[in-house]
Amino acid sequence: SVEDEQYLCSLIRTIPDFPAKGILFRDFIPVFADARGMDLLLEAFVRALPVKPEEFDYIAGLEARGFLLGTALARQLGKGFIAVRKAGKLPPKTVSQSYELEYGTATVEIEKNLVPEGSRILIVDDLIATGGTAWAAMKLFEEVGCTVAGFSFVMELDGLHGLDQLSHYPTSSLMVMPA
Ligand code: PRP
Ligand code: MG
Repeated sequence: SVEDEQYLCSLIRTIPDFPAKGILFRDFIPVFADARGMDLLLEAFVRALPVKPEEFDYIAGLEARGFLLGTALARQLGKGFIAVRKAGKLPPKTVSQSYELEYGTATVEIEKNLVPEGSRILIVDDLIATGGTAWAAMKLFEEVGCTVAGFSFVMELDGLHGLDQLSHYPTSSLMVMPA
């Protein structure tokens, strides 16, 4: 309902000038602090999925906020969960992929032998901004012989064209927010 939607949106907070001046930080952490909010989010997220649950085998979540969403969703859909971690947190053997940030670069990693080759992966995260993190996660799974079935986000930042570099894949986002 509209009321549920408004309630869910009211739980997403916006912090100006964090983590750097000029950035509007969009944070869904309060949704997870609220039992009803968490329920509403998961329900809406499942409804918006860009592919059917039978079209993927695993859910991958991007550290850190994608872990909250991804594990809850995986549990609900009866799928396994794969953690895409920031560099240096996983024991070898891992595969790594670097990507461009606004300033500098970052690296994400997955374990090499955790997912069977040929698995179909749905990649989820709280938010897509430039799309760099999601793109790097896609490269990791393709490198280990998996297929990316699609991407699903809670929020999409307007005007940053993050979804453009994922245009060959089914994607969804629940809400578009001003950047
Ligand atoms: C944020 C957000 C996404 C990513 C999006 O994570 O949660 O994962 O940035 O940015 P991009 O589309 O430009 O790559 P962040 O690294 O800030 O921290 P987190 O560990 O709290 O998720
Ligand atoms: Mg993140």
